[in-house]
Amino acid sequence: CSDSTDFYFLHSTCKVVVLLCLVHISVTLVFYVRSLDLRFAFAQNQQSGGSSSSNVSQRNQVQDSRITVKSQPDVKKLEKLGPLRVEFNLPVTFEDTKKANPKVGPGGHYQPPDCVPEQKVAVIIPFRNRDEHLKYWLYYLHPILQRQQLYYTIFVINQEGTGKFNRAKLLNVGYVEALKDDNYDCFVFSDVDLIPIDDRNTYKCFSNPRHLSAAMDKFGFKLPYNQFFGGVSSMSKQQILKINGFPNNYWGWGGEDDDIFNRLVFSGMYVSRPSAEIGKCRMIRHTRDKLNEDNPQRFDRIAHTRDTMRKDGLNSLTYKVVKKETFDLFTEITVDIGKP
Ligand code: BGC
Repeated sequence: CSDSTDFYFLHSTCKVVVLLCLVHISVTLVFYVRSLDLRFAFAQNQQSGGSSSSNVSQRNQVQDSRITVKSQPDVKKLEKLGPLRVEFNLPVTFEDTKKANPKVGPGGHYQPPDCVPEQKVAVIIPFRNRDEHLKYWLYYLHPILQRQQLYYTIFVINQEGTGKFNRAKLLNVGYVEALKDDNYDCFVFSDVDLIPIDDRNTYKCFSNPRHLSAAMDKFGFKLPYNQFFGGVSSMSKQQILKINGFPNNYWGWGGEDDDIFNRLVFSGMYVSRPSAEIGKCRMIRHTRDKLNEDNPQRFDRIAHTRDTMRKDGLNSLTYKVVKKETFDLFTEITVDIGKP
């Protein structure tokens, strides 16, 4: 009797062990097949960029064919896209980018033909003397923004003259000028030298201000510090009004993005970000512009945001539009923003 009980116990234990092994193998198999699928999608993306890297027009055609497929909304396909090949050693021209993006209208405007997007996005680029960077930015971003099925227009806000650069004031100008053209409800502010390398990083607005360039190559694909808000960000019209726009008195390099971060926090908002994987972006390497030296006053100014933000911003903005030009791929507004 005791023998048969032992045997029965052993038999049941073996059955449970075998069953557990089978479950384990099946789960492993499912995960393995899924990872193969993802790797295949990534390899395809790499090939489409790499195989035609000697010919810019051909490269664009490949990207364009991807747009056609995706103009029928397919969430699964959107998720599977992802890492993109972005490099800055190819010759890129405005003409090639124009040819590769036939659906982009005058002024750099696009709207999806088969759906009504929930937001109207104005993309604002503070700018001076960076045509080489702008070529790459337009070359990579127009296809991405179309794949993201956004209603958007590109506004390049060009600072006239040779005085010190003032990034935040140009952002204020971009906001005001864009609203003269259309009732945009979302604003994406992007440096001209930053390109996202994952098109799941949607350039739209969220319930809190969004820091889109969350993982820059320059900082080892990590945040340099938690409060970092530089590079590319998006904010709705309401969010911008809540912080009285941006500071107008940061002349030269640095600090204005920290001031904007303070404004958000002091207005009861927080910064949302994509994951470090999706928020990856590449910066076009360049030497610092001579007219954009470090702003030594920035530390003092950042320490006083709470006192200054209600007096300095959209409600104190003054500038003069010198020229407004509608190009094929973007709208350029040249402005005189004065001096420090
Ligand atoms: C500056 C910021 C800049 C950051 C990263 C900070 O010291 O104040 O404006 O974005 O460094 O370079």
